[in-house]
Amino acid sequence: MKIAMVGSGYVGLVSGACFADFGHDVVCIDKDERKIAALHDGVMPIYEPGLDNLVATNVEAGRLSFSTDLAEAIKGAQAIFIAVGTPSRRGDGHADLTFVHQVAREVGENLAGEAVIVTKSTVPVGTGDEVERIIRDTGTPHRFAVVSNPEFLREGAAIGDFKRPDRIVIGAEDEFGQEIMREVYRPLFLNESPILFTSRRTSELIKYAANAFLATKITFINEMADLCEKVGANVQDVSRGIGMDNRIGSKFLHAGPGYGGSCFPKDTLALLKTAEDFDSPTRIVEAVVKVNDSRKRAMGRKVLDALGGADAARGKKAALLGLTFKPNTDDMRDSPSIAIAQTLSDSGVKVAAFDPEGMEVAKPLMPDVAMHEDPYSAIKGADVVVIVTEWNEFRALDLGRVRELANEPVLVDLRNIYSADDVRARGFKYVSVGRL
Ligand code: UDX
Repeated sequence: MKIAMVGSGYVGLVSGACFADFGHDVVCIDKDERKIAALHDGVMPIYEPGLDNLVATNVEAGRLSFSTDLAEAIKGAQAIFIAVGTPSRRGDGHADLTFVHQVAREVGENLAGEAVIVTKSTVPVGTGDEVERIIRDTGTPHRFAVVSNPEFLREGAAIGDFKRPDRIVIGAEDEFGQEIMREVYRPLFLNESPILFTSRRTSELIKYAANAFLATKITFINEMADLCEKVGANVQDVSRGIGMDNRIGSKFLHAGPGYGGSCFPKDTLALLKTAEDFDSPTRIVEAVVKVNDSRKRAMGRKVLDALGGADAARGKKAALLGLTFKPNTDDMRDSPSIAIAQTLSDSGVKVAAFDPEGMEVAKPLMPDVAMHEDPYSAIKGADVVVIVTEWNEFRALDLGRVRELANEPVLVDLRNIYSADDVRARGFKYVSVGRL
């Protein structure tokens, strides 16, 4: 089957490369000529483990190609995916659908045969109806269906998530749409991946509900962590203790500095807006957004406390290890590190940092922070070392060397990756999240 993927960003590129790997004939399209030229040269626009190899193998096999010419590229495609960005609209938090609508119009104007148009971008409820209207208004003579098929890819694990999904959700209003989507995902049917067919609006809402629920789970355990610190309990054991209940489940119960990234912050806000528009408030999600926002600066204050309070901290040096919102990505969007660095700088603390992949992207976001080539050079002369992101290479730091290089042996571990007893036995003052 020929598949066209409009939008060669994170979701489009991973999905396109995986569909090609299933044996489909895929063309990834983007308006950005530089991006497409780089892809022709084998250069990925994002960092995602395994993506460069997957792309190279499928390009070589002749199943994957790239183009800037939408009209030409969608010819003969039975499935045309829309995988363009839906950023938060400036000012009001609504998802900005400008790109989705533009693509719908262009697809409608250039349809050369019957096709299913699939929204993979995260879009508010009712967007599929609007896309259908836009395409119909172009006057295309060809049969078409508009289907919703949200993605559930985690950055850093996107290829595995695509090939071995917990479930595939398809919102289709007619048999034609369902039939083509069954064909698109046939290789995964054979793998027995569960597939849920539902209405288009339901499918659109499932994506937001899933992300809002996960954001709630994280925020819940983060508040439990704060309470643990006050009452002298251990949040990791609380997570285990509640997570062993199958109704709760053990995943997404790691306390930390708050969630960031390209999805949770944007999608929770967009869900609030939809709920408001339909006069059906989602107060739990409202609270989650507020609690998570304030948590990021609170983590900066936690570091100040470890330095002896805001007054004592002035003029001291903090070394931040990890800047990206999570490991195995260079994504800095809404990363807690930004608010932490800002809070520290605001209090006159000098901030040094190291991140394995994120420093280029981070630099313009935190101009006052001195970036270093490796963790130990950032730690040199620091009065506090802060683990902000749990990259594997920070899990086994040479603590002897850290002690020698640092000005003071103080470790603030915002991801709870060290054992308090071990670190204290090495002579450190150790502060973590939700554990004494
Ligand atoms: C998320 C969803 O998992 C994915 O299904 C959706 O399609 C897009 O959004 P992603 O943003 O890549 O994926 O990252 P994820 O691994 O879910 O982590 C999101 C944030 O939550 C990170 O900042 C992470 O550090 C934080 N987190 C996650 C926690 O603080 N604790 C946890 O237990 C899990």
